[in-house]
Amino acid sequence: MSEARRQVEELRERFLAAVQAAADSESLERVRVEALGRRGRVTELAKGVGRLPPEQRREVGQAVNALKRELEAAIRARREVLAREALERRLREERLDVTLPPRERPEGRLHPVSHVLDEIVAIFADMGFAVAEGPDVEDDFHNFTALNIPPAHPARQMQDTFFLETTDAQGEPYLLRTHTSPVQIRTMEAGRPPFRIIAPGRVYRRDYDMTHTPMFHQVEGLLIDRRTHMGHLKGCLVDFVRAFFERDDIPVRFRPSYFPFTEPSAEMDVGCRRSQGQLVVGAGDDWLEVLGCGMVHPKVLEMVGLDPDVWQGFAFGLGVDRFAMLKYGIPDLRTFFEADLRWLRHYGFLPLDVPTTFAGLSR
Ligand code: DAH
Repeated sequence: MSEARRQVEELRERFLAAVQAAADSESLERVRVEALGRRGRVTELAKGVGRLPPEQRREVGQAVNALKRELEAAIRARREVLAREALERRLREERLDVTLPPRERPEGRLHPVSHVLDEIVAIFADMGFAVAEGPDVEDDFHNFTALNIPPAHPARQMQDTFFLETTDAQGEPYLLRTHTSPVQIRTMEAGRPPFRIIAPGRVYRRDYDMTHTPMFHQVEGLLIDRRTHMGHLKGCLVDFVRAFFERDDIPVRFRPSYFPFTEPSAEMDVGCRRSQGQLVVGAGDDWLEVLGCGMVHPKVLEMVGLDPDVWQGFAFGLGVDRFAMLKYGIPDLRTFFEADLRWLRHYGFLPLDVPTTFAGLSR
């Protein structure tokens, strides 16, 4: 056997053994480069074939080619074996124990009032309203006088007020605000028009039955600009109730009404029907009052130093708890504040279900 043939034979044994010994794909790759790479031993041998005496070239050339093919096949086979072993190892190591009990769903629930407040804020935020806040303990001026409810005005008796024992600089007792309307006054006192705000918050009245509790929630709305008119008010509120009840076909009507702080004033009704003791919002033969609204009274604007000939706007006030009862079919308002966990589990919302107008409000 020629020297060249012996070399071929040597490399063959050496590299086939190395391929079998490679324990992972990196070492296998190193063996491949050492044998078949551009400067590999077998490659170099093939390059040398042309320099052999003519009678050896053919035989050695064929032997080298055969060796290349054999090595390539051996490497391919080894690579598959290694890949399968690696997969098996991963499957073994990353095994899931499907007999483990599932993780419990989070227990906490958001109160429907919190959720409905988030829904309302999301809808008005989309229309460009900012959120404003005011104190629960108010003075007489902001809760009444500045809203065109002077002392001895009959509207003061419409809202049975909780008074505190302490009095303000005018000698008037502080009180728990009976509505969120004072936030209108505070907003206009503190800033410059135009205004576009909603003010959610707690309000207090001496009342207690199926639909009244001494504390409940309102959202006030106020928009003041130079050319605001009743059409804007209607468009805004119709859009709001349709977005809130997630139905475009809700019948809506505005009825003339009276509030001291708006002129003209209106109440907004939505169509509804009563079936099997349940109240369903939507088309029907009945109407349900859902909010009060109107064009801000010129006297209110004057009270905060705005010229009513330049600035006009609309305002509205709605009961959050009532909207929650209507949308989610909760019959008794008093249960909202009983802190009964079973009730909360039933009517509450998962805290991660954040309402948005694009992903859905109630989900
Ligand atoms: N403050 C009124 C109430 O508590 C609700 C209300 C009615 C607010 C009309 C407004 C409005 O801003 O324009 O009964």
